[in-house]
Amino acid sequence: MKAAAEARAGAPILHADPFTREFMDDPYPHFEAMREAGPALWSPQYECYVVARHDDVQRVLSEWQTFSSAAGVGLANFNKEKPWRPPSIVLEADPPLHTRTRTVLARTMTPGIVRKLREQFEREAELLVDRMLDMGEFDGIADFAEYYPTKVFPDALGLPEKGRENLLPYGAMVFNSFGPQNEFTQAAMANADAVRGWIMANCARAELTKDGLGAMIYAAVDSGELKEDEAAMLVRSFLSAGVDTTVNAFGNLLWCLATHPAQWKKLREKPELARNAFEESLRYEGPAQAFFRTTTKDVEIGGVKVGADEKICAFMQSANRDPRRWERADEFDIERKVVGHMGFGTGIHGCVGQPIARLEGEAVFAAFARKAATIELAGEPKRQYNNVLRAFSSLPVRATRQ
Ligand code: HEM
Repeated sequence: MKAAAEARAGAPILHADPFTREFMDDPYPHFEAMREAGPALWSPQYECYVVARHDDVQRVLSEWQTFSSAAGVGLANFNKEKPWRPPSIVLEADPPLHTRTRTVLARTMTPGIVRKLREQFEREAELLVDRMLDMGEFDGIADFAEYYPTKVFPDALGLPEKGRENLLPYGAMVFNSFGPQNEFTQAAMANADAVRGWIMANCARAELTKDGLGAMIYAAVDSGELKEDEAAMLVRSFLSAGVDTTVNAFGNLLWCLATHPAQWKKLREKPELARNAFEESLRYEGPAQAFFRTTTKDVEIGGVKVGADEKICAFMQSANRDPRRWERADEFDIERKVVGHMGFGTGIHGCVGQPIARLEGEAVFAAFARKAATIELAGEPKRQYNNVLRAFSSLPVRATRQ
């Protein structure tokens, strides 16, 4: 205990509370202050360290032997506290378990599989964009962003249609619970039992189609790589990680385009920039703000001595705006070389669903660029407060056809 207290004394103190409305309304000045204060800060309020510079975030996410995920990737330390759900066997796991489960998930994301999904994803994207342009004015969240990722990805997974309204509340539970037990987590957990019940029931083999990504995960049971209950847990991982993230990536990119007319003009002129625009929005206004790790041993971060079994919060969104790494870090530029952003994380836990997320983003925003002439805000956006995800609850948009 004494050693830990001394170690902590070497780090500048983080006074701001990242899990408040005030912080979430405009996190960027806070991120800057955090980066300027030093490579590793100590939050007395949450009793955890915080890293906010690009290189330190990258290191914490990459060195899994020292910065473990097995004690949870949220604030809770599973070595000391009981998790609210059985931990994920991929996200909240270290090798060798992680290697075994990740191998199965990665098999569902090969270029060949993504190629097969493309046609269907593009068809749905055209329908969605046509519907928005017919409406003229629409809510960029309820009408647009929430629709597509709760349609095409669960279809590809082979999930039943009935009950999909549980997907977004489940995502809200998962992502809020990575933060503290505050008002956002409590609100998200209001209907937890029913939502969790639907999710687990629908991850079962019998509920999934025989030709989807879910069935591919279950094929690993037949080949002896996974147990039946592990396959269900991996389908659950896709549902936890693959829906809300993409919904908010869509909302955030739509907002970026509606508020950056020169970038929208560029995209209209060259719809083939849609893929890079999506990527740049993950850097500039990424949905995943931060994930935690737990130290497995004593370690130094930029001169700050950190003891074993300490929680470290890695602020990916701050890394994405770090001027040490990016020129014009606070500018949204859809032609930027954006390789190295932390929006999908990095290292062994770097988002396994990237190929699908990119396909979704490219399909929808390329369709927008081809079909729409103008796109602008039609009212004041409202923020959705979430402990991990940067999100809007409503985004009034007006768009006209070409
Ligand atoms: C734009 C959308 C998305 C964003 C911003 C995003 C972001 C992330 C991030 C930051 C991580 C790393 C977490 C950590 O290091 O602790 C991650 C992991 C993960 N993501 Fe995504 N994700 C997106 C879409 C998806 C999709 C569509 C899927 C499913 C097809 C998915 C499945 C996963 C899984 C299973 C993991 C855990 C990987 C592991 O631990 O090895 N994600 N994602």
